[in-house]
Amino acid sequence: MTDAAAPLLELRDVTKRFGGLVAVRALSFAIHSGEVLGLIGPNGAGKSTTFNLIGGFYAPTAGEVLFESRRITGNEPHVAARMGIVRTFQHGSVFRDLTVRDNITVGATATVRGHAAREARVQETARMLGLEPRLDDPAHALPSGHQRLLSIAIALAARPILLCLDEPLAGLNPAETQEVLEVIARIRGELGVTVLLVEHNVGAVMRICDRIVVLNFGAKLAEGTPVEVRENEHVIDAYLGRAD
Ligand SMILES: Nc1ncnc2c1ncn2[C@@H]1O[C@H](COP(=O)(O)OP(=O)(O)OP(=O)(O)O)[C@@H](O)[C@H]1O
Ligand SMILES: [Mg+2]
Repeated sequence: MTDAAAPLLELRDVTKRFGGLVAVRALSFAIHSGEVLGLIGPNGAGKSTTFNLIGGFYAPTAGEVLFESRRITGNEPHVAARMGIVRTFQHGSVFRDLTVRDNITVGATATVRGHAAREARVQETARMLGLEPRLDDPAHALPSGHQRLLSIAIALAARPILLCLDEPLAGLNPAETQEVLEVIARIRGELGVTVLLVEHNVGAVMRICDRIVVLNFGAKLAEGTPVEVRENEHVIDAYLGRAD
């Protein structure tokens, strides 16, 4: 049993070096079950690297990652996935020549045994993301907003406990942005999935996140509610800028 008060995911003093470059520096933060946590900061701040450390794509140089109070530091990605940590990639990732159905099936395969159960999971996931009418279309035929939803659907088909989304709004128009934001809210509200969100659309992050962690040069610059972060002088100087 997991202690209800314990965080779902915790980073303790995590550092990741690439040669002489410190991409993530003594980073500590926690995500609680049911939260939508934003991870923001300038280009190169270490956000995607942090995802890779959580998802087992990189092993940290130092520090520990805990999931449900267990050490998962340096676990392989498939081990993290089996434990319920699934991510999307910054530069989108759908199988362009496969149908929407087959794309989502790829995501379901890891966790659902049996053809009928897998079909049901695919249908349910497609319905939740509004992709049901497009199930038989090839992914490349979808407009960009629907391709983005499909990349989320692939991740969601595994029914993760923690879903890490790396810039899910990049390049989307306002209507598509709104659609993806509503889907993220539904993923949390209806499935109870905890969400870690990396995104440069600060307005959207402020609207959808319960708390935000701000990175700068690999280190944590600030952490708090959207209002606290928006009013933080260090965050304004390093990232947000001043309205005047
Ligand atoms: N595999 C790697 N090898 C060497 N350096 C890397 C590697 N991955 C990332 N870096 C470097 O680590 C730093 C952090 O990169 P990261 O991709 O985590 O930033 P980010 O916050 O996601 O930026 P962006 O907002 O542009 O996506 C950068 O200086 C980057 O060049
Ligand atoms: Mg990145």
